[in-house]
Amino acid sequence: MTCKKPALFTTLALVGVLSGCSTVQRDTPLQVWDDMKHQPKFKAQSEMEESNVFAYRRVTQRPVEDTVARGHLREETPLNTGLDKGMYLGKSPVPLTKDVLVLGQTKFNIYCSPCHDQSGMGKGIVPTRVPAWQPANLTEDRIVQEPDGEIFDVITHGRNTMTPYNYFLTPEDRWAVIAYVRVLQRAAHGKLEDVPAEERASLK
Ligand code: HEC
Repeated sequence: MTCKKPALFTTLALVGVLSGCSTVQRDTPLQVWDDMKHQPKFKAQSEMEESNVFAYRRVTQRPVEDTVARGHLREETPLNTGLDKGMYLGKSPVPLTKDVLVLGQTKFNIYCSPCHDQSGMGKGIVPTRVPAWQPANLTEDRIVQEPDGEIFDVITHGRNTMTPYNYFLTPEDRWAVIAYVRVLQRAAHGKLEDVPAEERASLK
């Protein structure tokens, strides 16, 4: 019996030591060797004590003026501005494909339909709640006549009471939305002749 006691003590001592590892230690640990846990550093947003490194004593420096983050360069091309030599582009520079239209439909229904409604007529939920804020009817002749580049400009910079949407829609998204707006305009001004002959009877 007696010989089992030291074994029991050793087990208890081990459990004690090991469980110590899992507790959170809040005091600075006693450090025998000064390892890499301690090294000079600046905390983010703090001030440097001496101003000999940067003119500003702030630790976090502003990027140099006109710095553009990688992948964020938007050159002033017609694709990004909707303009060519200062004139609105007549036609979108993005070739029309089914994918473009599907993207345009998705983005239009998310970002434009709250005001302009899903058919583009301007009877979305926002104007029903705020009657003073009347969106344009995107299918009316005036906007049908607007060049693609001008609608691009409206989405990018806003116009009158319409706010800009450039933060939510990349230039590619904007052209896709414009392509879809053209679809809505076409649908709103559709004639019986646009319907395949064999289906006309069902519409009359
Ligand atoms: C928060 C409401 C709101 C949303 C969302 C909105 N618009 Fe508008 N939009 C307006 C209002 C209001 C006007 C009328 C501006 C005016 O002339 O006073 C307008 C006008 C327009 C016009 C006509 C500009 C002109 O030539 O007079 C276009 C084109 C247009 N919007 C496109 C869009 C597109 C595309 C989207 C989605 C990316 C969108 N709008 C999202 C409120 C909105």
